[in-house]
Amino acid sequence: HAADAHRTDLMTITRFVLNEQSKHPASRGDFTILLNHIVLGCKFVCSAVNKAGLAKLIGLAGETNVQGEEQKKLDVLSNEVFIKALVSSGRTCILVSEEDDEAIFVEPGKRGKYCVVFDPLDGSSNIDCGVSIGTIFGIYMVKHGNEPTLDDVLQPGSNMVAAGYCMYGSSCMLVLSTGSGVNGFTLDPSLGEFILTHPDIKIPKKGKIYSVNEGNAKNWDGPTAKYVERCKFPKDGSSPKSLRYVGSMVADVHRTLLYGGIFLYPADKKSPNGKLRVLYEVFPMSFLMEQAGGQSFTGKQQALHLVPEKIHQRSPIFLGSYDDVEEIKALYAAEN
Ligand code: AHG
Ligand code: MN
Ligand code: MN
Ligand code: MN
Repeated sequence: HAADAHRTDLMTITRFVLNEQSKHPASRGDFTILLNHIVLGCKFVCSAVNKAGLAKLIGLAGETNVQGEEQKKLDVLSNEVFIKALVSSGRTCILVSEEDDEAIFVEPGKRGKYCVVFDPLDGSSNIDCGVSIGTIFGIYMVKHGNEPTLDDVLQPGSNMVAAGYCMYGSSCMLVLSTGSGVNGFTLDPSLGEFILTHPDIKIPKKGKIYSVNEGNAKNWDGPTAKYVERCKFPKDGSSPKSLRYVGSMVADVHRTLLYGGIFLYPADKKSPNGKLRVLYEVFPMSFLMEQAGGQSFTGKQQALHLVPEKIHQRSPIFLGSYDDVEEIKALYAAEN
């Protein structure tokens, strides 16, 4: 049968989301339209990443962002593409991007009810050597229809209506949750469509991999240091965990989601709030982890319960398999 060798019933991401939305009688297709614009941005960035070396897209753009990081050409290009795609969808009112100091308020004539927070290109340090990078996004609903304020994007992560990432890896994959599980779609480059390949992703309850930048170990706090020590020298006679660290959050979280284990970007003496940004890194990834049956923790609380005060605020983060995160939670609880 041809159907054995080829997928013939193509569940595209648009078809999938339309199916999901049709369960809500009040749905008018706004979310599907917004998502289509995000998908367009991802396809553009995917194609730019694939030909980065050829299209002179490697290297620095010459500017520094609000985080004090040097922007790469691809950071700037991706940011521009997503902003234009999101504004032109007519479904957004506030945008927060890693690469823009201030939140962007969409002009009244083009406004819709969604707020989008995003990291246009995650893993900048891996661009120039061709290692996996990604895009991360989270979506909130504006609280009061007509007058968006900064408060609309300073909501806890648990208020997100959807979150996802696109990984530009050995294949291009978009992983999405609209609050009822997690689904993965792979870009078929010949069709230019994301096709459902990983339905209802569940993270293994316990994993065999830990993922952290161990170069920061000398500045870690007690519980983090103790946890990583236990990964290497388990006390209960179990085998040590393997270490994997790409240095692109999207790639490290994607592997954690599929294989199980834990991803950590803890606080350290030099960065008491860790490195990763709450709105467009910590929240979307925590949302996906919880939707896949895992957990996420800041060292103090459940990550999605954090209420951000600033749009570029950072937080330590521990996320992954339920049992593995449970262990680090116990170590922090024992300290207090
Ligand atoms: P970005 O490229 O969007 O600024 O994010 C970089 C982040 C994230 O992708 C990764 O998990 C982390 O930086 C790696 O940091 P270290 O190099 O400090 O390990
Ligand atoms: Mn950056
Ligand atoms: Mn990032
Ligand atoms: Mn980035």
